[in-house]
Amino acid sequence: MKNYYITTPIYYPNGSPHIGHTYTSVSCDVIARYKRWSGYNVLFSTGTDEHGAKIEQAAAKALQTPKQYVDGIVANFKKLWAYLNISYDRFVRTTDEYHIRTVQSLFTKLYDSGYIYKSEYKGKYCVPCESFWTESQLDKDGNCPDCNRAVSEQTEETYFFKLSGFSEKLSAILTESDFLLPKFRVAEMVNNFIKPGLADLCVSRSTLKWGISVPFDTRHTVYVWLDALVNYLSVLGYMNDGYVESDADTAAVSAEVASTANTAAVGKPAEGASTAVSADFAQYWDDGYVLHYTAKDIVRFHSIIWCGILEAAGIRLPDRLYSHGWITFGGKKMGKSVGNVVDPYILGDRYGVDAVRYQLLRDMPYGSDLDYSNELMLSRINTDLANNYGNLVSRTVGMVFKYFGGTIPTFADNADTNPADSADTADTLDTALAEAATALRDKVEKYIDIQDLSKALEAVMDVVSRGNKYVDDTMPWVLAKSADPADTARLATVLYNLLEIIRITTVLLAPFMPTVTTEVLRQAGVCDNAAVSYDNAAVWGVLPRDVSVVKGEILFPRIDIEKELAALAENPLV
Ligand code: ME8
Ligand code: MG
Repeated sequence: MKNYYITTPIYYPNGSPHIGHTYTSVSCDVIARYKRWSGYNVLFSTGTDEHGAKIEQAAAKALQTPKQYVDGIVANFKKLWAYLNISYDRFVRTTDEYHIRTVQSLFTKLYDSGYIYKSEYKGKYCVPCESFWTESQLDKDGNCPDCNRAVSEQTEETYFFKLSGFSEKLSAILTESDFLLPKFRVAEMVNNFIKPGLADLCVSRSTLKWGISVPFDTRHTVYVWLDALVNYLSVLGYMNDGYVESDADTAAVSAEVASTANTAAVGKPAEGASTAVSADFAQYWDDGYVLHYTAKDIVRFHSIIWCGILEAAGIRLPDRLYSHGWITFGGKKMGKSVGNVVDPYILGDRYGVDAVRYQLLRDMPYGSDLDYSNELMLSRINTDLANNYGNLVSRTVGMVFKYFGGTIPTFADNADTNPADSADTADTLDTALAEAATALRDKVEKYIDIQDLSKALEAVMDVVSRGNKYVDDTMPWVLAKSADPADTARLATVLYNLLEIIRITTVLLAPFMPTVTTEVLRQAGVCDNAAVSYDNAAVWGVLPRDVSVVKGEILFPRIDIEKELAALAENPLV
């Protein structure tokens, strides 16, 4: 079986998650669900990035130890992922023992092979970004080029990673393959970072306590970005005894943790670098498709630093690094530190989790930013889900009840489900409809494979619109009034074709809206495994001719936008 490994970034647990993190995790969830359905053996991992000055400071502000503090926030992340139906397989925390072991072993391995060496660092450091910068990289005001905040002068004895040696290799992989998407990010990386010359990277700190200690020199802790990136390997059991899900975050925070956690660097020195390759690593990394899903703010870390480390460690590079844009609010990046965050629970409770998942994914343009607004959310839900998709389902199921009591009758001349062969009842309308529907799966898959989820949804909604147009064109209400048996047979065919459109579009929407689509399939009489299979998503005429539908609730009630905006304004999201 083909293997597929998909990762989200591991988020900083320095504040509660918002719809920015939601966007990333939902996107990965959709891809993971789609790939499982299409026959891949999927491993979907997510987690939290818990070390570093940023967390240390947030904990101090909350009058807690770092571990105590992150345990509480990690529980919030897990709660949100459960609420949003994120089907992750593993959740890695950088404070987990197995992860610490991998970071230490890999650090030692790179030191032993000469890729890490000791020297002295003089330079500028940005605490919020946990990044070192050279003078020439700073912005015009001498601030951090990523976040434009002040940097501070640092001089210390540190370990360096020989990143400078990888310029050519990295440049080649970026420019000669589809490794990094969207393509326009490639020029950004090459022109801004590789061409000016890659400097060796400082990979340890002696001033930071809340980190993983360098195993052979415990005065130092490992640079948090190195620590964080290694999660993609540690969660696969690479250089450790295997992934174990931590439950510290769900259990009550113990007094013991509180009294010891912030006093010393975590992790005992590794007892020698193990080179054992785990079964999961062999399966999902070496023998799988590896996709790192991120946003544009961390492309540099993934495409340059991470690839350099992998090269040095002799590990093959991932197949794809996708970087989406930001969700902004009033034009500014939505972020914990800016304080302009939209709460996913408020939206999910009011409009349904599936509708929120749909809107974010449909409206985020490929690779660029989405400026969030309530108006946009509500009008998207009304236009696509209530007026188009929901309407097609409810009018079709309604007509099968109204005209045939819930079960489509069979007639001798419509028993053949292939419209091209049944000249009596089928016409070019039916053929065109069937063709659009059976071509849809491969179209959606092409978009999923370049991570263009908005286009994938647009393609599905186009076919849904065709379904609604087919109703207008065939006018079932006219056929229903006719006394001619040929018209009754035609009516049965029309409604059957509509159920096929619903089946195909709904199985393709299922990864995006996993809850509501189950209900649609039930109402539309799609009830066996074969009817929802990947193979049959590209086949017309799969439902039995005498299919029965089921009455149910309205799935996407139309929202009164004026009223809803007023209610939201009284109870602001931010
Ligand atoms: O960068 N719009 O963690 P982080 C879209 N720990 N996506 C957003 C977003 C927004 N407004 N805000 C956050 C880190 N995200 C590191 C990662 S990985 C080895 C270490 C999403 O908490 C987006 O995916 O700042 C972004 O890349 C990620 O959260 C950054 O989360
Ligand atoms: Mg960030």
